Amino acid sequence: MDFRKINFGLSDAQSERMDYPNLLKDGYLNISQVIETVNNPRYFLFLGYKGSGKSSLSEHLKLCENDYIVEQQPLTNFPFKFFDKVINSEDRTIKYKIIWRWLLCAYVLSSLCKDLKQINEDTRQAIAIFTQLGLFPVINISSLLKKSSTTTISATIKSLGISHSINEEYAEADMELLTNYVKDIIATITEKKPYLIIIDELDDILTPNGRQFENIAALINETKELNAYFHYNNILVKIIILCRTDMFERLPGQNLNKIKQSNSFTFTWYREGIDSNKHSDLVSLINKRAKLTYPEINDVFKEFFPQNYDNTNIYSALLNYTRHIPRDFVQLMNYIQQNCDSEYVTKTAIIKGLKNYSTDYFLPEISNELSGYLPSVAIQPVFNVISSIRSQSFTYEQFIKIYHDVYALKNIDPLEILNILYDCSAIGHTHYYKENNTTRVLFKYRNRSTAFEKSDKILLHRGLWKAMNVDY
Ligand SMILES: Nc1ncnc2c1ncn2[C@@H]1O[C@H](COP(=O)(O)OP(=O)(O)OP(=O)(O)O)[C@@H](O)[C@H]1O
Ligand SMILES: [Mg+2]
Repeated sequence: MDFRKINFGLSDAQSERMDYPNLLKDGYLNISQVIETVNNPRYFLFLGYKGSGKSSLSEHLKLCENDYIVEQQPLTNFPFKFFDKVINSEDRTIKYKIIWRWLLCAYVLSSLCKDLKQINEDTRQAIAIFTQLGLFPVINISSLLKKSSTTTISATIKSLGISHSINEEYAEADMELLTNYVKDIIATITEKKPYLIIIDELDDILTPNGRQFENIAALINETKELNAYFHYNNILVKIIILCRTDMFERLPGQNLNKIKQSNSFTFTWYREGIDSNKHSDLVSLINKRAKLTYPEINDVFKEFFPQNYDNTNIYSALLNYTRHIPRDFVQLMNYIQQNCDSEYVTKTAIIKGLKNYSTDYFLPEISNELSGYLPSVAIQPVFNVISSIRSQSFTYEQFIKIYHDVYALKNIDPLEILNILYDCSAIGHTHYYKENNTTRVLFKYRNRSTAFEKSDKILLHRGLWKAMNVDY
């Protein structure tokens, strides 16, 4: 057996599905019974940090289409500004809700009809009218939003002969009327296989000036209501939303906490406890994928690696360089593999692999994550500040001293930067507990409910050491 021959995967699920679909079909790890959770009608919101496997779930379900029909709806480059063009109402919350309900219902109807062989005559006529007026077929939600002008909606209502009981000027009422009509048609369709509509790439709104937190909150609230409607009317349709945890936490509205408690699943790869790393789901993921090349393999780390590194067992030593998410761990395996010159992994290959991983993957990945929250011109200077401290750990005061001399950062609150760095686990800290005179290392990926605390000593994540030249 040769370590170099194993295919551990790529850094994102979309590319992986194109090049190695089998890795996402048979090499997919059903973490915390996530597939069973998809099948449970109550759960529709899947939360996870960047690289935690949200899109992988979507691609896995798409590849298992024998069990479901799956429609993927990435909201990349979503034209949010059209929300104001469709309905010009002052109350944004209501406007967003009404428009999302329309978009989702129309999308569901159009998708269902595409796959159905038998549709009743009334539905067929309605679809013909939607098509005539340019609303159907719905290729994606973005294009439907662009086409849903007030005039098209009211023309559709007229052609369908739905009675107007309300003032025609009132665009919101028109949209609601048409939405209810569409909802009623959906209820008449009998679909045999579960139909999953998966909305992904919501974090596209994190681009500067693109923040649409209220709008996304409305999408989530509306999806909950529609899923309940589908469920209680025995309609086998479910809308699933994949969302970054850090973004979800910034959305407004009290309802969302209830949704998080009752209707969401969170991808959690980190586990506390003795021997937890050896039995980590991340180790199982690597072994599962290795088995596709060598079915007889049980433990890649036992088979190919030195049993200790950094004076620590190999499982913990390697996982310490990650934020306990699959993207980090798969990439670490890939970089080590690229530096192997025999069928086994040597210490030299690990050292070289870690260096490449840190500079070519980890630092850019963290930068990419920060770019959702900081102006792009500020990102490199932040790392320059950290790198010039020249230490794996430092205090808030040390950071501030250098920070204040950097012109590019003069309008950004340093505490905001440190909070963001903490949230993506680029930094952690050691916290001292007076009560029992102990110190604990805290990182967001391990201690989800913690926040940055400026009186604590700051620790740079090990994955950044080589890239920041503090690896000594
Ligand atoms: N359950 C899993 N089983 C096997 N591999 C996985 C699993 N989850 C994630 N991976 C691996 O991790 C990589 C990154 O995952 P993915 O692209 O799904 O992350 P994401 O949460 O969608 O990230 P982003 O927020 O950046 O879009 C995948 O390409 C795949 O190799
Ligand atoms: Mg993704």
